[in-house]
Amino acid sequence: MRGQDFLQIDHCSKDDILSLLALSKKLKEEVRAGKVHPILQGKTLAMVFEKPSSRTRISFEVGMFQLGGAAININANELGMGVRESIADVACTLSRYVDVVMIRALFHWTLQEFANAASVPLINGLSDHHHPCQALSDIFTIQEHKGDLSKVTICYVGDGNNVCNSLIQICRILNINLRIACPPGHEPLLAERSKNINIIHDPLEACRDVDVIYTDVWVSMGQEQLTARKIQAFQGYMVDNRLMKVANKNAVFMHCLPAHRGLEVDTATLEGESSIVFDQAENRLHCQKAI
Ligand code: CP
Ligand code: NVA
Repeated sequence: MRGQDFLQIDHCSKDDILSLLALSKKLKEEVRAGKVHPILQGKTLAMVFEKPSSRTRISFEVGMFQLGGAAININANELGMGVRESIADVACTLSRYVDVVMIRALFHWTLQEFANAASVPLINGLSDHHHPCQALSDIFTIQEHKGDLSKVTICYVGDGNNVCNSLIQICRILNINLRIACPPGHEPLLAERSKNINIIHDPLEACRDVDVIYTDVWVSMGQEQLTARKIQAFQGYMVDNRLMKVANKNAVFMHCLPAHRGLEVDTATLEGESSIVFDQAENRLHCQKAI
């Protein structure tokens, strides 16, 4: 990995990602077999959330426990990064107490500033631009369900957001076919076209013959003021049977969660047989332990 931090997927090489996927599989199998693996005994992870979370917080906390270490959740308001004291001073202080830090940040630059000053590794638990832990878990989940990643085509339907950016980066590195179906004006930041990554505005055309249909919320945390405008813009982009039926016969449905039934996905798809959203959620645990 480039440096010690895990801030965005493209800081990893293809080999790094393949090793993380293999280690995630090993750790998952060991947990399933009841085998303990206390390889981080005596180590502490500090977690700071500037935005709400359930999956990320709980999977990191349980993960550290299973690895024999400890996780502490630090109240972001009490910590007051950039308010009570500078981000750099918080980074230097935490580096004297803990072995690794995970931050869910309002702004990606907070992570960069923290990482520049810290002497311990920093993991991005989601920022406005990236969600690298999610992308690793997504690809791990797809590999579990579909096997050979070189034969898989994914269609991400919805907003070109943090989750989409990280999916683009991991698909680019692993050369996985990815289509992005979004309304004009809502394209991801990172979508320079490449042979395996294409934007197709028409969701029906984009989902045709794909193996995975993936969506995320239309309004990400911190964008609440855009809600009415975005709901209007994303009409026709809900993942429902209309889209699922043009995909391949065994296509699966994915969502990083939390989901909004009746907006980006309908209830029948989210809760239907093709949905693997809770495998995806579980795998956050195994993949983050690997990270
Ligand atoms: N997918 C995800 O990151 O979930 P949380 O926001 O609940 O952590
Ligand atoms: N795009 C969403 C992801 C939540 C896990 C958000 O940023 O709110």
